[in-house]
Amino acid sequence: MAIRHEFFEKNAIFLLVGTLLTVAVGGIVEVIPLFTIETTVEKVQGVRPYSPLELRGRDIYVREGCYLCHSQQIRALRDEVERYGHYSLAAESMYDHPFQWGSKRIGPDLSRVGGKYSSEWHYAHMQNPQALVPESLMPKYAFLAETPLETGDIQARLRTNRMVGVPYTDDQITNASVDLFAQADPNGDPAALMKRYPKANLVAGDGRRVTELDAVVAYLQVLGTMVNFADTSTEKLQQ
Ligand code: HEC
Repeated sequence: MAIRHEFFEKNAIFLLVGTLLTVAVGGIVEVIPLFTIETTVEKVQGVRPYSPLELRGRDIYVREGCYLCHSQQIRALRDEVERYGHYSLAAESMYDHPFQWGSKRIGPDLSRVGGKYSSEWHYAHMQNPQALVPESLMPKYAFLAETPLETGDIQARLRTNRMVGVPYTDDQITNASVDLFAQADPNGDPAALMKRYPKANLVAGDGRRVTELDAVVAYLQVLGTMVNFADTSTEKLQQ
């Protein structure tokens, strides 16, 4: 063995080729199994694609760079779980393109902010954070309440998400515009919307003039609410 090894040690080229072969075998053993499973993210009950209005809210969240101050990942550490709730599951951001995990917390983590406050609170807070939290460093986003939401391209946005793997159905794409306005109309009939997007929150728009802030609030209110952690263990939630 030692003699054969000497051969490699004295011939740089063979040593190089031998090393590459050894590393390649190791790499293949690790990587090949991943190609044979459909997805590395386990599905979890309750996680669904964003409703059209939530998706638009998410686009604005990305556009405004909220991720520069807010993370969306609760780590499996005791202090985080005590403050924010159950640690984040991979499946909870599986339909996020791109994901909004973030790497900085100037403000708190937002991955479970849905349902923490009323929508009225969010409307007021987004327009003037200091009115509710005097020491807040968060900028004012009052202009979002003045800016009509662009809705004409909503079908294309859903379709694009489907191209990258979000399982929007034909039914959801056909009704994208109807669903978007239904979610921003608290006096309408949300039955069809709720069937397509369980747990969607109605926001305050009047159903005709939908603003960018309506979309952001709809998005914030769904964050972290899709999975019901109440009385089930994580293992049971996995289908
Ligand atoms: C410059 C950093 C900064 C940016 C950018 C920022 N925030 Fe904040 N945000 C904060 C801070 C600090 C707080 C904590 C104080 C407060 O509640 O206002 C906060 C609080 C919040 C809260 C309340 C969270 C809770 O659990 O109490 C929400 C919701 C929120 N921000 C949403 C947003 C959204 C949406 C955007 C983008 C449109 C955004 N923030 C952009 C700094 C920021």
